Amino acid sequence: MTSTTYATRRSQLTQYFDRTAVDAWARLTSDAPVSKIRATVRAGRDAMRETLLSWLPQDLTGRRILDAGCGTGALSLEAARRGAEVVAIDVSPKLVGLARERLAECPEAARIDFRVGCMLDTSLGRFDHVVAMDSLIHYATPDIVRALAELSLRTDGSVVFTVAPRTPLLTLMHWTGRAFPRADRAPAIVPVAEGTLRRRVATEPVLGAFTLARTHRVNSAFYLSQAFALTRRSTDERGTR
Ligand SMILES: C[S@@+](CC[C@H](N)C(=O)[O-])C[C@H]1O[C@@H](n2cnc3c(N)ncnc32)[C@H](O)[C@@H]1O
Repeated sequence: MTSTTYATRRSQLTQYFDRTAVDAWARLTSDAPVSKIRATVRAGRDAMRETLLSWLPQDLTGRRILDAGCGTGALSLEAARRGAEVVAIDVSPKLVGLARERLAECPEAARIDFRVGCMLDTSLGRFDHVVAMDSLIHYATPDIVRALAELSLRTDGSVVFTVAPRTPLLTLMHWTGRAFPRADRAPAIVPVAEGTLRRRVATEPVLGAFTLARTHRVNSAFYLSQAFALTRRSTDERGTR
């Protein structure tokens, strides 16, 4: 069961990505020229996408993948190119529309089922792998862990996801961001302390069969994000929890 803080944040994000930020997001995720600052974000995001995809099996033929918070669909396309059957879901109808439009000419897109809605919708069915690239970064740690727990219940392989790591700079930006008038603000990115995340994952009963097996941080000037792979524990490991 998701919390009210999760639902409130999800509706703020829908509004933000579907209205306030849709043009900026469309540009950032295209080949169009962007400012130097945004170019570092674009480079960082490319590196992060590659990292997450490198943690999945190379041959994804017939594997069912959930691109949770797919945005304009770049990761979905790469997964489909490797043979995956992708369900790409986002709460923003405009971003999903843009993804559909952009990938219309790609034959691999026939393996992508685009949906508008919440990544935690149980009617999406079971998956081999779930990928949530930068789509959980605006949620509080308890809500991230609850989302991971829900996703794990319908994942046979791994849930790979990113968080905004808690660093002094990000914490400062988080608090300065709060000084802006409400209407001008993007929903804040919530910095996550790695120790807290690990402790919560380790003590969440639903995640008993899973462990945070890998992590990798991408820091490209104005882009900072940390990837984790939540994978099924081996039977030996399970006894040691
Ligand atoms: C920072 S963008 C990243 C998009 C994409 N993963 C990428 O890396 O290009 C975060 C996306 O997550 C979506 N999102 C946030 N919460 C969601 C939820 N609960 N279910 C589905 N999508 C969600 C937002 O609408 C937004 O498009």
